[in-house]
Amino acid sequence: MTDETCQWQGWRGWREATEGALYGPGGFYLRPEGPAGHFRTSVHASRLFAGAVAALLTRTARALGTDEIALVDVGAGRGELLTGVLAAVAPTGLSVRAYGVERAARPEGLDPRIVWTDRVPQGVRGLLFANEWLDNVPVDLAQADESGAARYVEVRADGTERLGGAVEGPDALWLERWWPLREPGGRAEIGRTRDEAWAGAVGALEAGLAVAVDYAHLREARPPFGTLTGFRAGREVEPVPDGSCDLTAHVAMDAVAAAGERALAARGGGPGGGEAGVGVAGGGAGQGAGSGSGEVVGAGGLARSGEVVGAGGLARSGEVVGAGGLARSGEPVTQREALHRLGVRADRPPLALASTDPAGYVRALASAGEAAELTARGGLGDFLWLIHEVRPPEAGSGAGILSP
Ligand SMILES: C[S@@+](CC[C@H](N)C(=O)[O-])C[C@H]1O[C@@H](n2cnc3c(N)ncnc32)[C@H](O)[C@@H]1O
Repeated sequence: MTDETCQWQGWRGWREATEGALYGPGGFYLRPEGPAGHFRTSVHASRLFAGAVAALLTRTARALGTDEIALVDVGAGRGELLTGVLAAVAPTGLSVRAYGVERAARPEGLDPRIVWTDRVPQGVRGLLFANEWLDNVPVDLAQADESGAARYVEVRADGTERLGGAVEGPDALWLERWWPLREPGGRAEIGRTRDEAWAGAVGALEAGLAVAVDYAHLREARPPFGTLTGFRAGREVEPVPDGSCDLTAHVAMDAVAAAGERALAARGGGPGGGEAGVGVAGGGAGQGAGSGSGEVVGAGGLARSGEVVGAGGLARSGEVVGAGGLARSGEPVTQREALHRLGVRADRPPLALASTDPAGYVRALASAGEAAELTARGGLGDFLWLIHEVRPPEAGSGAGILSP
């Protein structure tokens, strides 16, 4: 709880209230303990996650024909992912220009090679990665009144709510397109701010991949009463916009995807009608899950031509991933699927290893446990990865720049 964020009186829309509670003076995310002081993301769960991002970065560099590559972490927390990726790519000799894009101040003791900024850098070539960023981009809430009309939900600093004015203009259009409210009492989070934030991030890349990872939903299965909730010190709590807790809502990932594709179309950098997969497959730069410290996860096996994405109904049913494909540009897949394709697997090591290399067996077992957590059904594995391929201006209109 912070004094300054608690001082506001009266009623606000949820977007404004969240903005103040998370990022205003003394806001939740600006405090020293950072996100890791309150919850575990994939980044904190296992270094295998940074290894998979390192594999993606390495493959992006290879596809762009360079060994100098940018890594932009949007919503970088305290720089944990960047630190992990820099360690993982060290053996490869890749030269990485790392950017931590964060609203919180630069953490003490951060690797001096990392540029810390509150703006997404413009015109870089490489990998832009945003893990659990968009769910913390504030949104307004709408609720259908007794007549079924969508009204803004207003809130006080103590979390008390009331219905405000009618939802109109671009917000109303967004709801109609992405999250129509039909039943009285139904609630929706208006994701327009996230769409705009993501379009801006994608549009900032000159070439490479832009990846958003988050807990998310698609139009055919929106939660009828929304998902807004709070977290504090490892526990889920009532969402109260007083700066005492995180305020988060799942991401309408298909709306975000459409905004990213529009941003690419506007600059002529899309993958060309989605024919080409995100061609990040190819020779491996490291070991699979269970690799030793500092090794890059995700060797061969990322791409098997003609394989179907089995995303539990989240990818288009029956759709074939293009040769060399991790996913189709602009189409969400589950984290389970994406990490599998990057070589993160929860397979138990062979028992025989226990007698020939007991220490290696124990390491591999621990690694398999971590991979299981990252890919778990009902947990982190259900997160969605949205990947956009951004072609360099010189690529022309042929096959995708990252196609093998
Ligand atoms: C849930 S945390 C995720 C941290 C980290 N990516 C991870 O996975 O552990 C979300 C982070 O996004 C940051 N954030 C939110 N909006 C931002 C913005 N517009 N620009 C930069 N950082 C932002 C917050 O300050 C917070 O540190």
